[in-house]
Amino acid sequence: MKKYEGVLLVLMALALGLAIWHGVRVPSGEPEVLDFTMLEKVPDDSGIAGKTMDNPMKNIKSTEKAMAKMENQQLNNVVQTILNRKSVRKYSDREVSEKDLILLARTAMAAPTARDSRPWYIFATNKKAEIEKLSEAYAQIGNAKALLIICGNRDKFLEGPGELYWMQDCAAATENALLAAESLGIGAVWLGICPNKQRMDGITKVLKLSDNLVPFSVISLGYPEGENQPKDKWDENAFKIL
Ligand SMILES: Cc1cc2nc3c(=O)[nH]c(=O)nc-3n(C[C@H](O)[C@H](O)[C@H](O)COP(=O)(O)O)c2cc1C
Repeated sequence: MKKYEGVLLVLMALALGLAIWHGVRVPSGEPEVLDFTMLEKVPDDSGIAGKTMDNPMKNIKSTEKAMAKMENQQLNNVVQTILNRKSVRKYSDREVSEKDLILLARTAMAAPTARDSRPWYIFATNKKAEIEKLSEAYAQIGNAKALLIICGNRDKFLEGPGELYWMQDCAAATENALLAAESLGIGAVWLGICPNKQRMDGITKVLKLSDNLVPFSVISLGYPEGENQPKDKWDENAFKIL
Protein backbone atom coordinates (compact mmCIF):
# COMPACT_ATOMS: atom_id res chain seq x y z
CA MET A 1 0.00 0.00 0.00
CA LYS A 2 1.32 3.42 -0.94
CA LYS A 3 1.84 5.99 1.81
CA TYR A 4 -0.97 8.35 0.70
CA GLU A 5 -3.41 5.40 0.55
CA GLY A 6 -2.66 4.69 4.22
CA VAL A 7 -3.32 8.33 5.15
CA LEU A 8 -6.57 8.23 3.18
CA LEU A 9 -7.69 5.09 5.02
CA VAL A 10 -6.99 6.69 8.40
CA LEU A 11 -8.95 9.81 7.38
CA MET A 12 -11.90 7.70 6.18
CA ALA A 13 -11.90 5.70 9.44
CA LEU A 14 -11.91 8.97 11.39
CA ALA A 15 -14.79 10.36 9.33
CA LEU A 16 -16.77 7.12 9.82
CA GLY A 17 -16.13 7.24 13.58
CA LEU A 18 -17.32 10.85 13.74
CA ALA A 19 -20.45 10.07 11.73
CA ILE A 20 -21.36 7.12 14.02
CA TRP A 21 -20.75 9.22 17.15
CA HIS A 22 -22.89 12.04 15.80
CA GLY A 23 -25.62 9.61 14.79
CA VAL A 24 -25.82 8.22 18.36
CA ARG A 25 -25.84 11.70 19.87
CA VAL A 26 -28.43 13.20 17.53
CA PRO A 27 -30.80 10.59 16.14
CA SER A 28 -31.96 11.55 12.68
CA GLY A 29 -35.04 13.76 12.68
CA GLU A 30 -34.51 14.78 16.34
CA PRO A 31 -33.62 18.35 17.37
CA GLU A 32 -30.04 19.21 18.32
CA VAL A 33 -29.20 18.48 21.97
CA LEU A 34 -29.29 21.65 24.10
CA ASP A 35 -26.56 22.90 26.39
CA PHE A 36 -28.02 21.93 29.78
CA THR A 37 -25.33 23.67 31.81
CA MET A 38 -26.53 27.00 30.46
CA LEU A 39 -30.05 26.30 31.76
CA GLU A 40 -28.79 25.68 35.31
CA LYS A 41 -27.77 29.32 35.56
CA VAL A 42 -31.23 30.80 35.96
CA PRO A 43 -30.68 33.96 38.03
CA ASP A 44 -32.58 34.22 41.27
CA ASP A 45 -33.13 37.62 42.83
CA SER A 46 -34.99 36.41 45.90
CA GLY A 47 -32.58 33.82 47.35
CA ILE A 48 -35.54 31.46 47.71
CA ALA A 49 -35.16 29.26 44.65
CA GLY A 50 -32.15 27.72 42.90
CA LYS A 51 -31.46 24.88 45.36
CA THR A 52 -30.86 22.11 42.82
CA MET A 53 -27.06 21.94 43.15
CA ASP A 54 -26.86 18.72 45.24
CA ASN A 55 -29.94 17.14 43.81
CA PRO A 56 -29.22 13.67 42.34
CA MET A 57 -32.12 14.26 39.95
CA LYS A 58 -30.31 17.32 38.63
CA ASN A 59 -29.59 15.95 35.19
CA ILE A 60 -33.12 14.68 34.74
CA LYS A 61 -34.48 18.07 35.81
CA SER A 62 -32.07 19.78 33.47
CA THR A 63 -33.40 17.68 30.63
CA GLU A 64 -36.91 18.68 31.52
CA LYS A 65 -35.92 22.33 31.69
CA ALA A 66 -34.35 21.98 28.28
CA MET A 67 -37.51 20.33 26.95
CA ALA A 68 -39.65 23.06 28.49
CA LYS A 69 -37.45 25.71 26.90
CA MET A 70 -37.77 24.04 23.54
CA GLU A 71 -41.52 23.69 23.91
CA ASN A 72 -41.81 27.35 24.90
CA GLN A 73 -40.75 28.30 21.44
CA GLN A 74 -43.91 26.69 20.08
CA LEU A 75 -46.27 28.06 22.75
CA ASN A 76 -48.78 30.80 22.08
CA ASN A 77 -48.23 34.38 23.24
CA VAL A 78 -50.40 34.17 26.35
CA VAL A 79 -48.62 31.09 27.68
CA GLN A 80 -45.26 32.64 26.84
CA THR A 81 -46.24 35.80 28.72
CA ILE A 82 -47.24 33.75 31.76
CA LEU A 83 -43.96 31.84 31.72
CA ASN A 84 -41.95 35.04 31.19
CA ARG A 85 -43.54 37.01 34.02
CA LYS A 86 -41.12 37.94 36.77
CA SER A 87 -40.99 40.45 39.56
CA VAL A 88 -39.25 43.63 38.44
CA ARG A 89 -38.17 46.01 41.19
CA LYS A 90 -35.82 48.43 39.41
CA TYR A 91 -37.15 50.87 36.85
CA SER A 92 -35.90 53.42 34.36
CA ASP A 93 -37.18 57.01 34.35
CA ARG A 94 -39.57 56.33 31.46
CA GLU A 95 -43.12 57.23 32.44
CA VAL A 96 -45.89 54.65 32.58
CA SER A 97 -48.78 56.39 30.82
CA GLU A 98 -52.22 56.90 32.31
CA LYS A 99 -53.58 55.08 29.29
CA ASP A 100 -51.58 51.99 30.24
CA LEU A 101 -52.66 52.29 33.87
CA ILE A 102 -56.29 52.24 32.76
CA LEU A 103 -55.58 49.26 30.51
CA LEU A 104 -53.93 47.39 33.39
CA ALA A 105 -56.86 48.15 35.69
CA ARG A 106 -59.16 46.88 32.99
CA THR A 107 -57.26 43.58 32.79
CA ALA A 108 -57.42 43.33 36.60
CA MET A 109 -61.19 43.74 36.46
CA ALA A 110 -61.43 41.00 33.85
CA ALA A 111 -60.46 38.43 36.50
CA PRO A 112 -62.91 35.71 37.53
CA THR A 113 -64.69 36.34 40.83
CA ALA A 114 -66.88 34.27 43.12
CA ARG A 115 -70.50 34.62 41.98
CA ASP A 116 -69.24 37.36 39.67
CA SER A 117 -69.15 39.68 42.68
CA ARG A 118 -66.22 41.88 41.43
CA PRO A 119 -65.52 42.98 45.00
CA TRP A 120 -62.85 45.60 44.30
CA TYR A 121 -61.93 49.22 43.89
CA ILE A 122 -58.68 50.15 42.14
CA PHE A 123 -56.61 53.30 42.46
CA ALA A 124 -53.84 54.15 39.99
CA THR A 125 -51.19 56.82 39.84
CA ASN A 126 -48.00 57.73 38.01
CA LYS A 127 -47.46 60.89 40.06
CA LYS A 128 -44.26 61.10 42.07
CA ALA A 129 -45.85 63.03 44.93
CA GLU A 130 -48.63 60.42 45.35
CA ILE A 131 -46.11 57.58 45.22
CA GLU A 132 -43.98 59.27 47.87
CA LYS A 133 -46.97 59.73 50.16
CA LEU A 134 -47.91 56.07 49.77
CA SER A 135 -44.36 54.96 50.56
CA GLU A 136 -45.04 56.09 54.16
CA ALA A 137 -47.27 53.02 54.38
CA TYR A 138 -44.64 50.69 52.91
CA ALA A 139 -41.18 51.97 52.00
CA GLN A 140 -40.79 49.72 48.92
CA ILE A 141 -43.65 51.56 47.25
CA GLY A 142 -41.25 54.50 46.91
CA ASN A 143 -39.24 52.67 44.19
CA ALA A 144 -42.23 52.61 41.83
CA LYS A 145 -42.76 54.84 38.80
CA ALA A 146 -46.46 54.06 38.85
CA LEU A 147 -48.86 52.12 41.04
CA LEU A 148 -52.06 50.18 41.05
CA ILE A 149 -53.63 49.83 44.46
CA ILE A 150 -56.17 47.04 44.57
CA CYS A 151 -58.68 47.27 47.37
CA GLY A 152 -61.48 44.97 48.40
CA ASN A 153 -64.92 46.60 48.47
CA ARG A 154 -66.93 45.39 51.47
CA ASP A 155 -70.19 46.45 49.78
CA LYS A 156 -69.63 43.62 47.34
CA PHE A 157 -68.26 40.91 49.63
CA LEU A 158 -70.32 37.72 49.68
CA GLU A 159 -72.16 36.77 52.83
CA GLY A 160 -71.91 33.45 54.63
CA PRO A 161 -69.34 30.75 53.87
CA GLY A 162 -68.07 32.63 50.80
CA GLU A 163 -67.25 35.84 52.66
CA LEU A 164 -63.47 35.41 52.28
CA TYR A 165 -63.61 34.79 48.54
CA TRP A 166 -62.95 38.52 48.00
CA MET A 167 -59.27 37.90 48.76
CA GLN A 168 -59.00 35.28 46.04
CA ASP A 169 -60.87 37.60 43.67
CA CYS A 170 -58.47 40.47 44.40
CA ALA A 171 -55.49 38.12 44.05
CA ALA A 172 -56.75 37.02 40.63
CA ALA A 173 -57.15 40.69 39.66
CA THR A 174 -53.62 41.42 40.84
CA GLU A 175 -52.14 38.55 38.84
CA ASN A 176 -54.09 39.57 35.73
CA ALA A 177 -52.55 43.04 35.88
CA LEU A 178 -49.06 41.60 36.46
CA LEU A 179 -49.42 39.43 33.37
CA ALA A 180 -50.76 42.31 31.29
CA ALA A 181 -47.83 44.47 32.43
CA GLU A 182 -45.42 41.74 31.33
CA SER A 183 -47.09 41.62 27.92
CA LEU A 184 -46.73 45.41 27.56
CA GLY A 185 -43.04 45.36 28.50
CA ILE A 186 -43.79 47.12 31.78
CA GLY A 187 -41.95 45.76 34.82
CA ALA A 188 -44.07 44.98 37.85
CA VAL A 189 -43.97 43.47 41.30
CA TRP A 190 -46.80 42.52 43.64
CA LEU A 191 -46.35 44.24 46.98
CA GLY A 192 -48.26 42.43 49.70
CA ILE A 193 -50.55 44.63 51.79
CA CYS A 194 -53.34 42.42 53.16
CA PRO A 195 -53.14 40.87 55.79
CA ASN A 196 -50.20 43.00 57.03
CA LYS A 197 -52.08 45.29 59.43
CA GLN A 198 -49.41 47.99 59.52
CA ARG A 199 -49.37 48.31 55.71
CA MET A 200 -53.16 48.15 55.49
CA ASP A 201 -53.53 50.89 58.09
CA GLY A 202 -50.85 52.96 56.34
CA ILE A 203 -52.56 52.82 52.94
CA THR A 204 -55.96 53.49 54.52
CA LYS A 205 -54.54 56.58 56.20
CA VAL A 206 -52.70 58.00 53.19
CA LEU A 207 -55.61 57.44 50.78
CA LYS A 208 -58.19 58.38 53.43
CA LEU A 209 -60.13 55.27 52.52
CA SER A 210 -63.73 54.95 53.62
CA ASP A 211 -64.62 52.02 55.88
CA ASN A 212 -65.88 49.90 53.00
CA LEU A 213 -62.48 49.70 51.28
CA VAL A 214 -59.79 47.22 52.37
CA PRO A 215 -56.35 47.67 50.80
CA PHE A 216 -55.34 44.29 49.40
CA SER A 217 -52.27 44.68 47.17
CA VAL A 218 -50.10 47.30 45.56
CA ILE A 219 -48.59 46.69 42.14
CA SER A 220 -45.33 48.57 41.70
CA LEU A 221 -44.78 49.46 38.04
CA GLY A 222 -42.10 50.92 35.79
CA TYR A 223 -40.12 50.17 32.67
CA PRO A 224 -37.45 47.61 33.62
CA GLU A 225 -33.88 48.61 34.25
CA GLY A 226 -31.19 45.92 34.08
CA GLU A 227 -31.57 42.20 33.54
CA ASN A 228 -34.68 40.47 34.81
CA GLN A 229 -35.15 36.78 34.15
CA PRO A 230 -38.14 34.58 34.94
CA LYS A 231 -37.53 31.60 37.20
CA ASP A 232 -38.29 28.11 35.98
CA LYS A 233 -40.60 26.95 38.75
CA TRP A 234 -41.80 23.69 37.23
CA ASP A 235 -41.65 21.12 40.04
CA GLU A 236 -42.46 17.55 39.11
CA ASN A 237 -42.64 16.70 42.83
CA ALA A 238 -45.53 19.11 43.24
CA PHE A 239 -47.58 17.62 40.43
CA LYS A 240 -49.40 14.39 39.74
CA ILE A 241 -51.70 13.33 36.96
CA LEU A 242 -54.54 11.32 38.51
C1 LIG B 1 -48.82 37.94 48.26
C2 LIG B 1 -47.50 38.42 47.73
C3 LIG B 1 -46.81 39.41 48.40
C4 LIG B 1 -45.59 39.88 47.90
N1 LIG B 1 -44.97 40.91 48.54
C5 LIG B 1 -43.80 41.37 48.05
C6 LIG B 1 -43.18 42.49 48.67
O1 LIG B 1 -43.68 43.04 49.64
N2 LIG B 1 -42.01 42.91 48.15
C7 LIG B 1 -41.42 42.31 47.06
O2 LIG B 1 -40.36 42.74 46.64
N3 LIG B 1 -42.01 41.27 46.44
C8 LIG B 1 -43.17 40.79 46.90
N4 LIG B 1 -43.81 39.76 46.27
C9 LIG B 1 -43.19 39.16 45.06
C10 LIG B 1 -42.52 37.84 45.41
O3 LIG B 1 -41.36 38.05 46.19
C11 LIG B 1 -42.16 37.13 44.06
O4 LIG B 1 -43.33 36.91 43.34
C12 LIG B 1 -41.45 35.82 44.33
O5 LIG B 1 -40.18 36.03 44.89
C13 LIG B 1 -41.30 35.02 43.05
O6 LIG B 1 -40.54 35.73 42.09
P1 LIG B 1 -41.15 36.09 40.67
O7 LIG B 1 -42.34 36.97 40.88
O8 LIG B 1 -40.03 36.80 39.95
O9 LIG B 1 -41.54 34.82 39.99
C14 LIG B 1 -45.03 39.29 46.73
C15 LIG B 1 -45.74 38.30 46.07
C16 LIG B 1 -46.97 37.87 46.53
C17 LIG B 1 -47.74 36.84 45.75
